Amino acid sequence: MIDKRSFQIEFQPLGLRDQFPAGISLLDCARQAGFDLVSLCGGKGTCGRCKIQIVSGNVSELLQNEKDTLSAEELAKKYRLACQVYAESDLVVNVPAESLSAPQRLQVEGVEPVVALDPIIQGYTVSLSAPSLSDPRGDDERLFEALERQHGVICKSIDEEVLQSLSRSLRSLNWNISVTIRNTEIVSVDPVESRRLGMAVDLGTTKIAGYLVDLETAKTLSATGIMNPQISYGEDVVARLTRAQMSPQDASTLQAKSLEALATLSIELCQEADGARPDEIKEIVVAGNTAMHHLLLRLPVEQLIKAPHVPSVSQAIDIKARSVGLSVAPGAYVHLLPNIAGFVGGDHLAMLLAIKAWEAEAPLMAIDIGTNTEISLVMRGEITSVSCASGPAFEGAHISNGMRAAPGAIDHLLLADQQIQYHTIHGSKPAGICGSGIFDALAQLVLNGVIDQNGRMQGGHPRVRENKTGREFVIVSEEERNGGSAITITQEDVRELQLAKAAIRTGITVLLKEKELSDSDIDQVVVAGAFGSYLDISSAITVGMLPAIPLSRFRQVGNAAGMGAKAVLISKTARETVQKVAREIRYIELAVAPDFNKTFMQAISLR
Ligand code: FES
Repeated sequence: MIDKRSFQIEFQPLGLRDQFPAGISLLDCARQAGFDLVSLCGGKGTCGRCKIQIVSGNVSELLQNEKDTLSAEELAKKYRLACQVYAESDLVVNVPAESLSAPQRLQVEGVEPVVALDPIIQGYTVSLSAPSLSDPRGDDERLFEALERQHGVICKSIDEEVLQSLSRSLRSLNWNISVTIRNTEIVSVDPVESRRLGMAVDLGTTKIAGYLVDLETAKTLSATGIMNPQISYGEDVVARLTRAQMSPQDASTLQAKSLEALATLSIELCQEADGARPDEIKEIVVAGNTAMHHLLLRLPVEQLIKAPHVPSVSQAIDIKARSVGLSVAPGAYVHLLPNIAGFVGGDHLAMLLAIKAWEAEAPLMAIDIGTNTEISLVMRGEITSVSCASGPAFEGAHISNGMRAAPGAIDHLLLADQQIQYHTIHGSKPAGICGSGIFDALAQLVLNGVIDQNGRMQGGHPRVRENKTGREFVIVSEEERNGGSAITITQEDVRELQLAKAAIRTGITVLLKEKELSDSDIDQVVVAGAFGSYLDISSAITVGMLPAIPLSRFRQVGNAAGMGAKAVLISKTARETVQKVAREIRYIELAVAPDFNKTFMQAISLR
């Protein structure tokens, strides 16, 4: 009998979802959705490279070759071989990065700030005299005295774990050692030739970027990005905070996922930097939004969710890396940047640091666009910030054919004379449309009169058609996709985008009004973040999201938060500056800003 069922399958973290007929393997579903999994054996179930994880839903029975190929741990975590498994209901599937045949675009590059090397971690080579009957001082005393005599450094304590191995290390290294000191504490004792490395992390809601830095030269040895594994617990911060608040078990899992990501980053970064080892990492700096910060430390989150959205901790925090299970140097610390408010965290501070915002002489607006968008207006050294709930539309979520910036995503688009031209990431076959493409599409539809100022889609264009819920504009038709489902922008998508862009425009307007400024008074707009780097500024101006000022006043700086985290890693001065600035920033809660509703309603319009 022919199986006529079909199921919705959502592929995370790509953000791709579509309807697939029953009876085709998940490997083929992935191909139909427009992306490829590694499949060295061609789908025979023998290479074990097409691993995916079933997050929810029912699938076909586990086969013997899957039992043979997957580890017990993978099986317990519901990993399956995509070529051997079939949907039996709607599914949510997690695609690990290593199973993708082409990597997802993860922004790690940014404009490096010029910061003098002055890390909190200092290293010294020390030669000690061996004890004798006439000099039977303890090993710790002997080390403190040698440091003071040879380098003028006064140390007051030794990390507990370093202390446990100190006597053995001194003797095995023949009394010639490299000592790493943080403030006045010895955090590592190593062979003379060992390196002092640091890891800077931008802990984003969707993506996590990491940088391995040589603390003696400030050189970035490697940089990489991974998806935040918390994503299966919710696309935005509020969803994850709510899970953590409702269930202590979910709170623990969310913390474990962040820590797992930091551990993965440390290993991957070392692998990319030839010969580096995680135990050479002596300091980690993490810049994250307040929610990611609280979930990482498993701090209470109830007061973050409820108005007036107060962080449990706003000042910078230092914790021992091992206390949260990170395997780096024994005495290494994790330094978390301060938080400004419930929804403006250390990542925004890091961005402001990277662009040296407080040095701006004329009005500067700094915008970090993401699921949550943070905006600061800097004027005569004063910084005022807001947070806008822009939602996950920029990541392609809640958009009918939206997807993340992965191979096959349409990232730029042009409509002229009824002809559509688009560009896909890696030049792959079109699979969906990502944030920058969605904005281009919206702007092009406005410019071509397909959408009016109120966002209403007009009939009459050959690419506009009716669907079940209203009109839609066809970007890639079924025929152009060889029978695959069409890629469209629907009337509902337009409404979703209007809300997202209005949230950002409202934040900008409220900040300007507060200082009695208008758009034209802004001297510089700095746009940061992965989405912000690929966004076509003129499209964002066309749809009324960004101020209509000359393009020359805009600067796209890439992952500035990551660069700011690196600055804090290599410079004690930068670390102190961030802490001082965090106390001085004024935060405005948008919801209680005068005329908020009126401003938001005006911002919905597409000019
Ligand atoms: S493609 Fe080789 S095991 Fe699935």
